[in-house]
Amino acid sequence: MRKGKVIAVAGKGGTGKTAIAALLIRELLNAQEDVCILAVDADADSNLPDALGISYDKTVGDIREGLLEEKQRDVTLDIRSQFEGKIAGIIAEEEHYDLLVMGRPEGPGCYCPVNHLIRMIIDTLTKNYDYTIIDCEAGLEHLSRRTTRDVDVMLVVLDTTLKSMKTALRLKEIAKEIDVDVKKLITIANKIPAGADKMIVEAAQKYNLEIERIIPFDPLIPEYDANGIPIMDLPDSAPSVIAVRLIVEKLL
Ligand SMILES: Nc1ncnc2c1ncn2[C@@H]1O[C@H](COP(=O)(O)OP(=O)(O)OP(=O)(O)O)[C@@H](O)[C@H]1O
Ligand SMILES: [Mg+2]
Repeated sequence: MRKGKVIAVAGKGGTGKTAIAALLIRELLNAQEDVCILAVDADADSNLPDALGISYDKTVGDIREGLLEEKQRDVTLDIRSQFEGKIAGIIAEEEHYDLLVMGRPEGPGCYCPVNHLIRMIIDTLTKNYDYTIIDCEAGLEHLSRRTTRDVDVMLVVLDTTLKSMKTALRLKEIAKEIDVDVKKLITIANKIPAGADKMIVEAAQKYNLEIERIIPFDPLIPEYDANGIPIMDLPDSAPSVIAVRLIVEKLL
């Protein structure tokens, strides 16, 4: 039996969700032997594959259109298992983890029933892994559209901008209001310059946000990003890696 824990990384655009998701995967793999991880890139503008340094062929968005057509064409087939097979076919398999890229959230037609089915399949899929790490789309859309269903831990990321704090607060509120079962919510401040920890904690408190973890500004991250080097390959001693390691220890 796998653990089936789902960890979603959410927050304002550009706060560092993708970098944190990649480092979480890296540190979960380092912390435990034989751990089985599913990485889900739920951002339409997929960046997680680059941060992990892996390539993929197709997204769920790419196959959705075909799925819809086939559904209309042949109602005698078991639609769900047919969908399951197609989704299994587009999962990129690495040595220690798998990657599923969601791609475009909506196409020109109405995909509501298909999206519903895809969500159900992903919910089932996550039970085959110890951890599913979801790199969410920026902002609040994915929650209101319910791309994510039951989530064990939601990491809400903010940075030193006021906008990111406001988004974090709204995410917290929305998570309570809608039908997504978020069991635990952890607020993380990312890209915090040296000496600014106290400032960011106090600034966030004004918005009823209790920052539980701080990831420092790490010059290696933009350097790797700019040169197309996967964030996954940061050295063990990088300050951002050390900070994420502490988060993983807490999660375990
Ligand atoms: N701890 C950090 N220190 C320094 N720079 C960072 C850190 N984390 C992320 N960055 C930089 O911040 C920018 C945004 O990071 P990232 O792409 O991970 O954010 P995101 O929230 O996934 O963005 P988007 O909403 O566009 O998907 C990138 O240029 C990245 O290099
Ligand atoms: Mg991103």
